Amino acid sequence: MDRKSLEALLDDMSIEEKVMQLVQIPGSEYLAEAEITGIERGRVEENVKKLAGSTLGIWGSKNLREIQDRYIKEHPHHIPLMFMLDVIHGHKTVFPCPLGQGASFDPERTKKGATVQAREAAADGVHVTFSPMSDLCRDARWGRIMESTGEDKYLNSLMASAMVEGYQGDDLTDPEHLAACVKHFAAYGAAEGGRDYNNTELSEHTLREHYLRAYGEAIKKDPAMVMTSFNSVNGIPATGNQFLMRKILREEFGFKGVLISDWGAVGELINHGFAEDKKDAAYRAMMAGVDIDMCSGCYSEQLEELVETGAVSMKMLDEAVLRVLNMKNDLGLFEDPYRGIVSDAGPVITEESRRLAREAVAASLVLLENNDKTLPLGKGKTSFIGPYADTKKLQSSWAFSGEDDNTVTVWEAAKEVYEPDSIKVAAGCTMLDQDAMTARGIRHTDQWQEENDRLLAEAVQTAEWADTVVLCLGEDFAQSGEAASKASLKLPAVQLKLLKEIKKTGKRIVTLIFTGRPLELDEVKELSDALMICWLPGTEGGHGVMDVVSGKISPSGRLPVSFPYTVGQEPLHYDMYPTGRPKPASGPSEFTSRYLDCENGALYPFGYGLSYTSFEYGEPKLSASEMTSEDTLTASVSIRNTGDVPGDVTVQMYIRDVCASRVRPVRELAGFRKIHLNPGEEKAVSFVIKEEMLRFWTAEEKWASEPGRFNVWLCDGSTKGRALEFSLK
Ligand code: NOJ
Repeated sequence: MDRKSLEALLDDMSIEEKVMQLVQIPGSEYLAEAEITGIERGRVEENVKKLAGSTLGIWGSKNLREIQDRYIKEHPHHIPLMFMLDVIHGHKTVFPCPLGQGASFDPERTKKGATVQAREAAADGVHVTFSPMSDLCRDARWGRIMESTGEDKYLNSLMASAMVEGYQGDDLTDPEHLAACVKHFAAYGAAEGGRDYNNTELSEHTLREHYLRAYGEAIKKDPAMVMTSFNSVNGIPATGNQFLMRKILREEFGFKGVLISDWGAVGELINHGFAEDKKDAAYRAMMAGVDIDMCSGCYSEQLEELVETGAVSMKMLDEAVLRVLNMKNDLGLFEDPYRGIVSDAGPVITEESRRLAREAVAASLVLLENNDKTLPLGKGKTSFIGPYADTKKLQSSWAFSGEDDNTVTVWEAAKEVYEPDSIKVAAGCTMLDQDAMTARGIRHTDQWQEENDRLLAEAVQTAEWADTVVLCLGEDFAQSGEAASKASLKLPAVQLKLLKEIKKTGKRIVTLIFTGRPLELDEVKELSDALMICWLPGTEGGHGVMDVVSGKISPSGRLPVSFPYTVGQEPLHYDMYPTGRPKPASGPSEFTSRYLDCENGALYPFGYGLSYTSFEYGEPKLSASEMTSEDTLTASVSIRNTGDVPGDVTVQMYIRDVCASRVRPVRELAGFRKIHLNPGEEKAVSFVIKEEMLRFWTAEEKWASEPGRFNVWLCDGSTKGRALEFSLK
């Protein structure tokens, strides 16, 4: 539809119809069997159901076609309904959770995965995905760290941009693509204490330089939608925050698409103590520029009156409605309201999507320890033990449209690689401690202890038989994600006990950790010969993990988040600001910035990861020792594979502004390149340094670089390498 026709349509709509374009209601209102937690059915009135502009949380080609059909017929202007869904790391084919994708340091791979997700979800009638989550996360206690690509703004920016490109493709009308929604604007990841939905307090420079960065970069890729966050930022809830939404998002970032609230967040302005009642909440959200109210009922109940009394101008309403109509138009919904749907059967998982998912898993694994080349696993007798050894629950709580039946477990994959009489399996223990999920209303049965005694005895026997034990441990998928904050980062006690008992058998132990967040692994490390992080790997989890365990592929993941010694170090991130009393690398440290009982840094820092081969870095070089804003510098280094198997290495470039009008981080990732090297092969890698890469939010409250000295490192991890120096004139 052309712009003129769209405006004519708007002119012809009643105020009620217009308001309802800004109303989103739960999909369970249209599809009785849809399970959407926390929703009371029947709360939404009939006229809202008939007119609401969008819905969320449902999928299925046949059902959505029928719903659309009915809806359009009943709608006075036959405007199609827009279907939205959280397709976070997979629809049918589930890829590694976003944190795992971050570990691959491979945005191109992530883009390909997003393309698959879009194609599958679109074929199931979905139009919009609530992804990418571009929140910066520095706190492992926050359960939603699993949905992010980590603690680094640069890596997150590339990943979020890749996701937008993958979901949306070149043209939104292409029925194999989805509209993307960058969320949660803003600074949701900075929730105090790592407690979900909590407030955030951030200086403007930290907000701008770190927390806003990935949203801003992703918005440059033109996502159709942005979602507000639940939290307040410096005292103003994001969903009513005019500075964030009007000034930064619209004015500075130039975002022209639709702004949607998070679930119920408009109504929550009342709980925040920022709005008196629902009317006030609707008013404040409109003033901040929130176009769609996701499920709070404030717009559907209050907005019409606010417009009729003139509190909200017709112009403001029209602008918001036009943005929503535009989005429907960009998706081609006026021409084809059933876009994407090809058959009643919906999408099928193809060999190609499985292959991509499998490779994505292998690329995401981070090898932390490998004493005496314990991995890859040889041909001896191996027992796969632990609650993750043979479970299909390998996807996160946000991959609810993926089906367990399609998932390949570690044990199933192991059987494809090793002779049947050389491997055994045992669960070893339950996934969770007895009371672990009481906060979610789930309790284990009274037989929990008996069951665990039995599982342990069986596991010890299975271990005794083997030469090597592959222990598959980790957090349950429900322990990360929304509303899954934790004050402890230890493995469940029942799993630690299993590890200790297996250790007593004296067998070689390879520990695989499945998790959506960094965990405290100091003790686990001591008890293991090899240790590898497998994240929540998804549909092809078993295959991808076994490809690496068996040595078919050498591990190449690098940590996208710091793994602490102890939870007491959180929030923990490598790119901290320096202090006036830095702890010296060695020697006495009294009266310096340190802990009495723990290291300052991470047990496993950002950027860290091992391979089955070894790499030697040559002397890094700079093309000159000075640069100006008109020219550039080149930093280069050559890397050689000095081991005996091929492998990928992620060369990382970090920069520090040594002295500036505002303190600058001790290091910031400014570039990385993943390269493949055969044994004995050497390649040179170079990075161009431009003035714009050196800009920050200065003491004069503007983006600029300042002349002076800079350090640069070319290395394999945020704590490694030797600093070179150059100056900006
Ligand atoms: C709440 C979550 O915070 C958000 O990420 C999600 O997209 C919406 N619910 C819709 O499910």
